[in-house]
Amino acid sequence: MLQGKKVAIIGAGNVGATICYWLAMRKSCREIVMIDLVEGVAIGKALDISQATSPEGSHTLISASSDYKNILNSDIVVITAGSPRKPGMSRDDLLLINANITRSIVEQIQIYAPKAILITVSNPLDAITYVALKCGNYPRNRVIGMAGILDSSRMETFISDKLGFGYGQVTASVMGGHGDDMVPLPRYSSVNGVALTDLMTPLEIEDIIEKTRHGGAQIVGYMGTSAYYAPANSTVKMIEAILSDSRAIFPCATLLEGEYGYRDTVNGVPVVLGSNGIEKIVELPLNLQEQQQFAKSVESVNTLLDVLHQQNYFKGKK
Ligand code: NAI
Ligand code: 2OP
Repeated sequence: MLQGKKVAIIGAGNVGATICYWLAMRKSCREIVMIDLVEGVAIGKALDISQATSPEGSHTLISASSDYKNILNSDIVVITAGSPRKPGMSRDDLLLINANITRSIVEQIQIYAPKAILITVSNPLDAITYVALKCGNYPRNRVIGMAGILDSSRMETFISDKLGFGYGQVTASVMGGHGDDMVPLPRYSSVNGVALTDLMTPLEIEDIIEKTRHGGAQIVGYMGTSAYYAPANSTVKMIEAILSDSRAIFPCATLLEGEYGYRDTVNGVPVVLGSNGIEKIVELPLNLQEQQQFAKSVESVNTLLDVLHQQNYFKGKK
């Protein structure tokens, strides 16, 4: 499938390398290039992954470098580069560090892959997506944040674990920013068409919502670092939808320009993905409680964006 396509992944850490591995195993594109500051490790991972391709009959070419000229003419660039939060570092400190990393990466993408669609993964996800959009002066369809698919797949897993049935048949939907204020939507969740609200009590649903909101932190608690298998899988879903122009609906982070009543901010909403990136934004008829939760989530993201605006971070940008 999709043999002619090239995907670049910036950051060959846990998430970046796992995306590379899964894309190659699924034969989703012809070429994958990983770019990382730590070139030797990235090259080693590229060799290791490419040596897994032959038994799978995959002809995906895999390479790694620290030189951005290797991303030349990529169809999609995924940004997973980032610094983890270190002791003594505030959330705002981390925001500025990762915003600066993203800005420098976007400059390189504009030189070597100016037509690429960008998928952002680095945290804080919604703010970083905004940084990539604004620093690159991109139209909003071409910069898409990955989080909603991950948060929804976590919710799906918690639902089937709680029910003890319906594994692989659960469809859950999570809107909102990628943080504690995300908005899991039980009204839009079902098990093979059976509404979640007909299968669980309100208390059980509340428990699922809490677990979903803290699903990422739960894994950090066990591993001392953040998740990468499910994040990589979610990113690959987005890449495949774009490369195949599937027009599938997924919850993704996007720039809102009036949808849901918000403007000039990034948040997670259902979108249609196709060859142009975001083909359409879907506006769900939220009830009052869902609207209030979404408002809280937008406010949380805006608090981060305010930090950047106060520093004149986007001076000269539209
Ligand atoms: P990691 O630490 O394993 O990998 C990050 C990689 O980025 C490292 O290899 C590092 O050398 C590289 N890097 C740092 N600065 C760079 C630069 N300027 N240019 C090129 N490479 C650079 O981290 P991991 O686990 O892969 O996570 C990556 C990011 O994704 C983090 O910000 C994490 O919080 C975020 N994340 C987001 C998720 C989401 O749902 N949106 C889910 C999981 C992780
Ligand atoms: C996650 O949700 C930390 O964003 C990362 O796993």
